Amino acid sequence: MSIVVRTISDDEFDSAVRASVLGFGDHASDELLRVARSDADVGRTFGAFDGRDIVGTTVTRTSAMTIPGGTAKLGFVDDVAVLPTHRRRGILTQMMRAQLDQMRECDESLSALSASESLIYERFGFGIATWYHRWKIDRRHTAMKIPPNGGGYVRFISADTAREVWPKLHAKVRETRVGMVHYSENYWRAALWDAEFQRDGATEFFHVAYIRGDRIVGLCTYRRRERTILVFFLLGEDAEVEAELWRYCFGIDLTLEIQTWPRPTDDPLPWRLEDPRRLERSLIDHMWLRLVDVKEALVSRSYAEAGGLTLRVHDEFCPWNDGTYLLEVGQGGAECNRSQREPQVELGVSDLGAAYLGGVSFSNLARAGRVKEHAPGALASADRMFKTERQPWAMEL
Ligand SMILES: CC(C)(COP(=O)(O)OP(=O)(O)OC[C@H]1O[C@@H](n2cnc3c(N)ncnc32)[C@H](O)[C@@H]1OP(=O)(O)O)[C@@H](O)C(=O)NCCC(=O)NCCS
Repeated sequence: MSIVVRTISDDEFDSAVRASVLGFGDHASDELLRVARSDADVGRTFGAFDGRDIVGTTVTRTSAMTIPGGTAKLGFVDDVAVLPTHRRRGILTQMMRAQLDQMRECDESLSALSASESLIYERFGFGIATWYHRWKIDRRHTAMKIPPNGGGYVRFISADTAREVWPKLHAKVRETRVGMVHYSENYWRAALWDAEFQRDGATEFFHVAYIRGDRIVGLCTYRRRERTILVFFLLGEDAEVEAELWRYCFGIDLTLEIQTWPRPTDDPLPWRLEDPRRLERSLIDHMWLRLVDVKEALVSRSYAEAGGLTLRVHDEFCPWNDGTYLLEVGQGGAECNRSQREPQVELGVSDLGAAYLGGVSFSNLARAGRVKEHAPGALASADRMFKTERQPWAMEL
């Protein structure tokens, strides 16, 4: 029987959630269904139907992403799953098709996702735009050579207060870091839900606030498992505040180790430590970015340098993007139009997605054999234009 992919109706929502959880190898509890329902957007939830049975799901979260110089509309891809009974017969491909077509109709110039495996999404035009570090450190080696001076103090706050202040703090900080995703209140509710089955043998969440004057300017949410502190989210309005929260975590008695994820690859904390080698860091690919509308995405970001660039972009999965573009950046901003000129740089749309936020240079992608330079100096010029002050990063939950 052929598979039909379409958005679900309201009365199909629970079946879609059950199928999604089953696709990830688990059973959906009543509590999970209730929480999922609070964040439901059935018009953006796709089901793959084998007859009346839902055998695959994917959800688009209507969102936005901080890009250089502003914000872009984002279709965030979530809850992608196909039942083990129906894998490898093109259902994900069918769902991606429907999902990206809908994003185009919704004028979302960008799409992003966090991939369970790095083999899956390049074929659909996604490239790795942000990376993060996992950290692990033995508490005996956490002394700071340069102690922080945040000008405030740390206090425990209740789970209710944390639910109220996390979205506000994140909204403030996300403006300052390219790659950060704008999360809805419902999304936060789900992220801080803290059900027993999510704890994996660890404690409930502890929430700690860093307070300066009468304002909360930093937050840390963690669990303890035996003698390890597991930091889930740690964010501050500035680097001093974040270092103060780390000092707090490093100072918790009766623990041996601190683990955390995901941290920016250019986080300054290692540079404060007396013995930085003791901070074990492992690198993971994080936000996979796809330009749903290449022209719109290129005009809407700002650039570090004025210049002109002719780009040949290959895009098989979204053929409306395929072609040659002239990007011209001047005092008044960027212009981008289709062009008949000979391309200076040739690349696939997934590589443009990887370089879009400045996380990797075009030259490095060329050294990896992914990008071609047809005019000497074009790659160096592209690198200077797309460069961003800090590494892109997203605090995914
Ligand atoms: C990942 C998943 C959604 C793929 O669904 P699917 O319907 O089997 O995918 P498709 O048949 O459309 O595959 C499309 C292509 O991707 C490849 N592919 C899909 N999943 C892959 C994987 N996990 N590893 C490597 N390649 C994969 C397929 O081989 C196929 O390649 P081809 O076109 O060259 O033949 C499904 O296996 C699944 O639900 N896995 C468990 C949950 C999960 O990991 N979800 C993703 C969250 S980001």
